[in-house]
Parts: sequence; structure tokens; C-alpha cells
Amino acid sequence: MAHSTAAPARQTVPFMSLALTQDDIDAAVAVLHSGMLRAGSRCAELEKRFAGMTDAKIGLTCANGTCALQLAYGALLKPGDDVLVPAWSYIATVSMVVAAGCRPIFVDADPDTMQIDVADAEKRITAKTTAIAATHLYGMPVDIDAVQSLARRKGIRVIYDAAQAHLATYRAKGLGAYGDAVTYSFYATKNLATGEGGMVTVNDEAMARTIGALRSHGETDKYLHESIGFNYRLNDIAAAIGLSRLDRLEAQTAQRRRNADRYDAMLGEIDGLLPPGRTEGAEGVWHLYTVRMDLSKFSCTRDEFCKALMAEGVPTATHYPRPLTRQPAFKGVATDHPPVAEDLATRVFCLPMHHDLSDEHFEIIERALAKVAGEKRA
Ligand SMILES: Cc1ncc(COP(=O)(O)O)c(C=O)c1O
Repeated sequence: MAHSTAAPARQTVPFMSLALTQDDIDAAVAVLHSGMLRAGSRCAELEKRFAGMTDAKIGLTCANGTCALQLAYGALLKPGDDVLVPAWSYIATVSMVVAAGCRPIFVDADPDTMQIDVADAEKRITAKTTAIAATHLYGMPVDIDAVQSLARRKGIRVIYDAAQAHLATYRAKGLGAYGDAVTYSFYATKNLATGEGGMVTVNDEAMARTIGALRSHGETDKYLHESIGFNYRLNDIAAAIGLSRLDRLEAQTAQRRRNADRYDAMLGEIDGLLPPGRTEGAEGVWHLYTVRMDLSKFSCTRDEFCKALMAEGVPTATHYPRPLTRQPAFKGVATDHPPVAEDLATRVFCLPMHHDLSDEHFEIIERALAKVAGEKRA
């Protein structure tokens, strides 16, 4: 028998877990058998269940999380408005503000939670500011009390981008209980994933009607179009997959929370790697677990550190490599570069986070972090 002299292949920890179960596949196939592929009973059921699970009155499915933002902004903003937005987020939160004909006012991040810094938002308010769009980034809710208080005092609207925060809670209530509209993405890698997909939740019937019309060509009766709208509808194949996966989302979220606690404890032993701060009163859902490096404690850059982790079988991701004010798309609308967002871009990285992380995976990760941190010590 031949013996290989090659070193055994090192196991790589999967960064995410995307597999569908047979139930998910059966749910999609049942829709295919029905021949009814448009938005129908599966979309309606997903709207009802998901809104209920997030403490919102009304849910409206749509084609993706970007459309969800466009629908919410379309109902709540008007061209020429100034809108407070995070400098530290995914681009869609802000690019759709620009697409709505509004001016984004970039707000810095809190250095601990990395969420929008509401005190900085208040300082940046202008006479034309009509709304704040805040992302519950990485699945951790923003300081909702502070946002709502600001909105009340200044008379502005609130849109929460919860694309990464399905089932997160704040003061024991689902995110749908807060703000004028909450938007979600069901993109393939999100905590609840239908491939492409999204939802807006609201608590106001009139707003739901406006968003419903925008979603479907301003149609209020068959072939009666009272306003200009789009076709941003979801379809029942995607919704059926979402419903099937929704059955497992609470258990998977609980697993993500246990993983986060485990990472926090692990990082407590490593000088210079800081666990993500948690918003007081909030229960995050850990779409991403984002570590901040104290670069003064290491002899390398963040990217070199991550490359060394990869060599040990631990993939990482950088959310995000630049603040939004450094995106070429916002050249001309970004007036300054908020310092915390600038700094985070040089020193954050995300560790594997999903419901399928095993004890063995955690052992590999712990070993890799200790080894690389030791080798790269300043
Ligand atoms: C914070 C945030 N907002 C909006 C979006 C856009 O969602 P989608 O990709 O479904 O259009 C994403 C998805 O990546 C996101 O992470």
C-alpha cells in the first residue's frame, strides 16, 4: 500500500453555513408543482409570520433588501431631503438615499459597538434633515432609545435597515416595534436566506398601502395606477424556502448567540483582539462576529493577520475595508471622513459565524488565534 508523504490536508473552518434541508427543497418543489410562481399564498404567509415574529403589525415582501430600502425611502422621504446615515455600513443603506434624490449626511460610528453614534448624528442635523436611516450592523441593534428620542425631539422619521438583524430584540421587543419602517434582506448569506428576497415591516396601515403600491406599479385596483411604482415583488418559490427556513431560525439564532459568548471568552485571553461591544438593552443575532484589532499590540497589518489565520484553516472577512465616505460612488456627497469609521476600516475582521460551528471548529479557531497572535506580537 502506498503511503503519502504529504502533510495531511488541514481542515478549514467553513465561514458560513448555507445548505438547504430536504424540507426547504420540498417546499420549493411544491410551489413548482402548483404552477403558481408569482407572489401568492407563500409570500402572504411569510409576511404574516415574519412580521409577527419581529413585533411588527404589517410585513411586505419584496425582491431584495435594496428594494426594501427603496420602498421605505420612497414612502418616507422626498427629493431634496437631508438624511442622517451611517458612515460605517453596507453601501445600500446610503446609496438608496441618494437614489431617492436625497442628500446623505454621514454620521460616525460608536467605537465600541460600531453602530451609528447618535450623539454625532444630533450634531450633524441640518434644517433640511427629515429622517435618520440607521443600520443594525452585524445583527446588533443600534441604541434605539437614543435614535427614537432624537427623532421625537427633532420631528424626523426613522428607517431601520435590519438586513443583518432578523429576530434581534431591543428592550425585549422585536425590531419591528420601533421606527417608521424596518427593512430586511433575505440574500443567500443572510441569517434568513431565500436566495434573493427582502421585506419591509411597518405599523401603519396607510404607510403599508403606500409601500404596497410602490412595490407594484402604483396599482390600487386592477389596471388602475394611481402613482408611479415599480415591480419589486418577491415570488412564491423564494417565499416557500424562507418559510421553511423560518422554522429553524430561532434555534439557529440561539446557536449564534452561544457562539458569540464563546468568542468573547476566547478573545478575553488574547491581548489586542477586542470582542464587538454590545448595545445596552439589545440582544443581537450575530450575522457577523466582528473583531477589532489593537494594531499597537501587533507587528503586522489586519490583512497580514487574516492571511496568517487563513493559513491555519480559519477564513475571515472584512466588513468593511473602507468607510462609506471613501466609496468613489459618494465622491461629491461625502463632506468629511468621520474618524471612528476611518479607523475601524483598518482594523476589523470577521470570524466564522453560523449555526453549524462545532467544538472542533472552535478548537481550530482558538489554536489559530493564539498562534498567530503570538507570532505577530509587537
Ligand atoms: C446592511 C445591509 N443593507 C442592505 C443590504 C442589501 O440587501 P440585498 O443584497 O438583499 O439587496 C445588505 C445586504 O448585503 C446589507 O447588509
